[in-house]
Amino acid sequence: MCGIIGYIGNKNATNIVVEGLKRLEYRGYDSWGIALKNGEIKLIKEVGKISKFSGGQDLEKSNMAIGHTRWATHGGVTKENSHPHTSCDGKIAVVHNGIIENFKELKKELETNHKFKSETDTEVIPHLIEENINLGFEEAVKKAVSRIKGRYAILVMNADSNKLIAIRRGSPLIVGINNDEKFIASDIPAFLNHTKEVMYLDDNEMVVIDCELKFFNLKDGSKINKRRITIDWDASQAEKGDHPYFVIKEIMEQKDTIARAVNQKDKEIIKIANEINKAYGTFFTGCGTAGKVCRIGEYIFSKVANKHINFTVSSEFPNYQHFLTNKTLMIAISQSGETADVMEAVEVAKKKGVKIISLVNVMGSSLQRASDHAFMINAGPEKAVASTKVTTAQIAIITLLAYATAGKLKEGKQLLMNTASQVNDMLNPRYEQHVMKLAEKIKDSNNIYILGRSLNYPLAQEAAIKIMELSYIHAQGFAGGEMKHGPLALIEKNSPVITLVGNDESKEEIISNTMEAKSRGAYIIGISPENNDIFNYWIKVPDAGNASPIVNLIPIQILAYHLAILRGCDPDYCRNLSKSVTVK
Ligand code: AGP
Repeated sequence: MCGIIGYIGNKNATNIVVEGLKRLEYRGYDSWGIALKNGEIKLIKEVGKISKFSGGQDLEKSNMAIGHTRWATHGGVTKENSHPHTSCDGKIAVVHNGIIENFKELKKELETNHKFKSETDTEVIPHLIEENINLGFEEAVKKAVSRIKGRYAILVMNADSNKLIAIRRGSPLIVGINNDEKFIASDIPAFLNHTKEVMYLDDNEMVVIDCELKFFNLKDGSKINKRRITIDWDASQAEKGDHPYFVIKEIMEQKDTIARAVNQKDKEIIKIANEINKAYGTFFTGCGTAGKVCRIGEYIFSKVANKHINFTVSSEFPNYQHFLTNKTLMIAISQSGETADVMEAVEVAKKKGVKIISLVNVMGSSLQRASDHAFMINAGPEKAVASTKVTTAQIAIITLLAYATAGKLKEGKQLLMNTASQVNDMLNPRYEQHVMKLAEKIKDSNNIYILGRSLNYPLAQEAAIKIMELSYIHAQGFAGGEMKHGPLALIEKNSPVITLVGNDESKEEIISNTMEAKSRGAYIIGISPENNDIFNYWIKVPDAGNASPIVNLIPIQILAYHLAILRGCDPDYCRNLSKSVTVK
């Protein structure tokens, strides 16, 4: 939610910040702005996407700049509300990601001496810093953050100083180093084409950046020695390459991301499987698509390992804290590793002594660092707001873990390596065209229903998320058996109903449930290893056994993408959504 970048160095900071914001656009795309320093601070702000801005080369040069791409929380989408926000004298400029929970009280107090120009919570920060600037830049920033409550990341520039100051409390910030050049951003792809050398800020830490880097613990003021880490992402992984959109590039990358995800160390998988076997109560938690992966995990563990694992969507997890003990295990799943609801669930669990295992894609993310053990998904950067390659990789790891928990790691690995190669075969232009033809047929529908049973029931819910967020068609996923308990009332002539079939014990029942919809006039789309008379349109998938959610999801992702294209939606930037949801 919101992307931040700052740069100090001998290159043109303005261009670097504009370029970095374009790479961070997936975090927010309502409006953007930069502040550059050339003696005084100059602001450039626009409503809309920075990718639509072509004037980067004409902007004034500088050696220090900060920038922000916004996902609006407090205050509408206007130029005034876009960041950076400044102090009354225009000398302090601030960009911010997160929420200042006590901004109303602070604003009321500050309004007697300060003139506010926006409706944002952020604007209290430059005014608070201005209040104490006579103490020096660093002290004034420290004083200001001691007054604000919430989860946030802040980056501050001062016209009278050659330093940038950044603070992290709940929202990500990473420093990039390339000799004398220094970068700071919400995510690594913002500066990946300049450096792979990074330092992570932890919560309650402040960094003062000029030609040197000074890190402080905000709780006791002590200096911190940070470890420099070389990350193994490649800059080209964070670019679209030959594809028109990130999402289709990421869908196609599933040709090898599943195999990469499965390539975990046996020793680690077995160790965690043993922990699951020992635990008194294991909870899965995650949000949105990651939450649906957790639900698929519930089924897989029950089926393969004979284990009941509870799933609770992260925003509701705190309500379950009464059941937690130091023998409980939490398995948290998150692409970004920064989702605020997930991090809150983790905090609540940790306070009760719960051990945290996570599946996370972003190295160095808050979740990875808060976990006792983190499985890296290894899918490379996922830029499109709609998760695709990370989802199938997460399902693969969870499936592997279930097999390991049942003492059948080798069998699980074999199954998933086969599945990875089946997915590789599916992702060919002919297959895409077959799915595209279906998209043509149903693109004007107002509703799409998806049915599944067993492992494919939560997958039906994930399918609904993909179709909704990409194409803005209302979609809903149901357990096949539930249709007759209510949803059948929605079926009219030609209502598109997608039925997800796996080659398992639920096969016949899902066909019967689909028949109930067909009898009421539904247009039946079968995603199944075998054709069936009741399908009006058949999309063949390989028989992947217990990995059927992986192969069944592939045509859904392609369908959702083509529905978006045909309906004129931007498939990379889903309306009203953000890639990394760092607010509660
Ligand atoms: C995915 O397509 C969605 N945009 C969204 O539901 C996402 O899965 C959710 O916000 C969780 O994100 P995370 O995996 O980074 O925690």
